[in-house]
Amino acid sequence: MKHIEIKAPAKINIGLFIVSKRPDGYHNLKTLFYPIIDLYDKLTFEPSNNFEFICDSEDIPTDEENIVVKAKILLEKTFGKRINVKITLEKNIPSQAGLGGGSSDAAATLISLNEMFKLNLKHDQLIELALQLGSDVPFFIRAKPAIGTSRGEILNEIPLEINEPILIINPGIKISTKEAFENIKPKENTFDYRTAIKETGLNYNMMDEFVKNDFENYAFDKYPELEKIKYTLKESRCLFTMMSGSGSTMFGMFKDENSAKEAVGKFPKDYYCWISIPGY
Ligand code: C5P
Repeated sequence: MKHIEIKAPAKINIGLFIVSKRPDGYHNLKTLFYPIIDLYDKLTFEPSNNFEFICDSEDIPTDEENIVVKAKILLEKTFGKRINVKITLEKNIPSQAGLGGGSSDAAATLISLNEMFKLNLKHDQLIELALQLGSDVPFFIRAKPAIGTSRGEILNEIPLEINEPILIINPGIKISTKEAFENIKPKENTFDYRTAIKETGLNYNMMDEFVKNDFENYAFDKYPELEKIKYTLKESRCLFTMMSGSGSTMFGMFKDENSAKEAVGKFPKDYYCWISIPGY
């Protein structure tokens, strides 16, 4: 049985419309998922005589609370057999930050254990299991730019390549997604992302006018520091800025790497900053 090493990338939501509340308690949404492939957690899977899970971050639980362990247990239940494996997680993506770190780790676990233990799960089956672990997990099964609807599991991939550096800023504030949803009033929305894509890039002027993250008002009221980050990004002449997911990460696209680096200098030293470079 071979040893597997896999990179689990981050994502941003370029806009997040909360459209309606569903009878099952979840919300229907519309979002543009975009993978940040140069910011990733690293997972390794090694054959073992028992189950072991090691993570280099003290912030993260290593018991059944961890979504990686939940993914392994879900596969065990699905196949009615024990999965003995040693999983090591190297955490680089800030957690509970709207960057999908945990969801990406879970998807990487499903993909890797499927391969390692020859479970023969097809794409649709992986998506179904992924959705049982969390609404953002299905996106990470392929991690390609996609318009997400329903809970985020209906994915329409689009040929989008952002050719500008993306600055990612996280001030260390942890936001509960569940609580954020509880504080949102859903509203119908007719915006079609495809109209904002010119060739394979984004029309930022159009995006600025029509694309919103419906969690921003709630997050900015609760944590005014986040709105300040958005102002600072705007003052730094970024092309487009927004919060990702239910926060607290803010991102901004810049015309070049130097402008993004200059903007980094305007934030407190203890903020997490990452400049994602196109074409990684
Ligand atoms: O699916 P996930 O476990 O990430 O969701 C966390 C919580 O966020 C859910 O329990 C639910 O309350 C809320 N949620 C929602 N609608 C979605 C996604 C999440 O209401 N589409």
